[in-house]
Amino acid sequence: MAAENGNKPRVLSGIQPSGNLTIGNYLGALKQWVAVQHDYDCFYCVVDLHAITVAQDPAELRRKTRESAAIYLAAGIDPEISTVFVQSHIPAHSELAWMLTCMAPLGWLNRMTQFKDKSAKQSQESIGAGLLNYPSLMAADILLYHADLVPVGDDQNQHLEFTRDLAQRFNHLYGETFTLPSVMNPQAGARVMGLDNPTAKMSKSEASENHAVFLLDDLARARKKVMRAVTDSHREIRFSDDRERAGVNNLLTIYQAITGETQEAIESGFANKGYGDLKRAVADCVVGTLEPLQARYNELMNEAGYLDSVLKIGREKAADIANDTLKLAQARMGFLASS
Ligand code: TYM
Repeated sequence: MAAENGNKPRVLSGIQPSGNLTIGNYLGALKQWVAVQHDYDCFYCVVDLHAITVAQDPAELRRKTRESAAIYLAAGIDPEISTVFVQSHIPAHSELAWMLTCMAPLGWLNRMTQFKDKSAKQSQESIGAGLLNYPSLMAADILLYHADLVPVGDDQNQHLEFTRDLAQRFNHLYGETFTLPSVMNPQAGARVMGLDNPTAKMSKSEASENHAVFLLDDLARARKKVMRAVTDSHREIRFSDDRERAGVNNLLTIYQAITGETQEAIESGFANKGYGDLKRAVADCVVGTLEPLQARYNELMNEAGYLDSVLKIGREKAADIANDTLKLAQARMGFLASS
């Protein structure tokens, strides 16, 4: 059942419009999406149904959904080549998610690190059941399109394992229906850490001012955040797994992910230099990434109707595939076909 378009394997990925997109989202996901789009048949969605697993202000969610889609395009996703759409525009995502929810063992869901982390921050009374069932919805996103590859940061690897396990379970119980997807992590930047706390993953929902560089940050502000990044009291500039040196390692990783240079070349380039030089170099390449992205973003937002037309075309293309897969899965599970 492999998905093919001119024999190209299929790719699917998404980002939640639950906050401001960060350079972590860019380096872990978006940059890879752009890089693979000529080689694969790519589907990129704004996963608004995932965003509501924690409470969202309705007007803000609508605004962030459009903003996220515009950022995909501004980062270099070409809608002539890739399919860009909004998850909730395709009801098949919710429908398959329910079918998969009914098959997903509670034990598997309870083991998800992201659920454990997010639910630990709330009381039992305020955690929505969607937060627990979230991986089944993500599995539906991927399986509906028979995706072969899923480019994500490494925090999503466990959800990919879950998706494969669930697809296998379905195929075993009801017959070969879904393609088993593989995860695709970038070589550098699969886990960008917080600038203010380099032992925690950079996150769009962290409130502190110097935690994350947002893709739409004012450039001077972005530079300031990098210059204020936490480092350590050593002097040597080299990659390291040492927890104590996580701040410098994170800056070097961001530099590597943006420039594409090898670790050896980077370390020798910074030999005999200080942390101030490292921060300036990282700030320069972060700003160099943000500047053209923001220019294109502003153009897109000013082009009346363009973004909506991209999302409409994307919806039509994605719906055709998703509806076919949904129908097949429903038939396999024993639902009576509607006449
Ligand atoms: P989300 O919205 O948390 O993050 C979107 C993408 O950005 C990556 N990412 C990072 N990469 C490196 N360093 C970081 N600090 C960092 N923070 C985030 C994430 O790994 C992800 O690739 N469940 C997903 C969204 C989703 C999805 C899907 C992904 C829903 N359905 C289907 C792939 C396929 C999520 O919450 O991502």
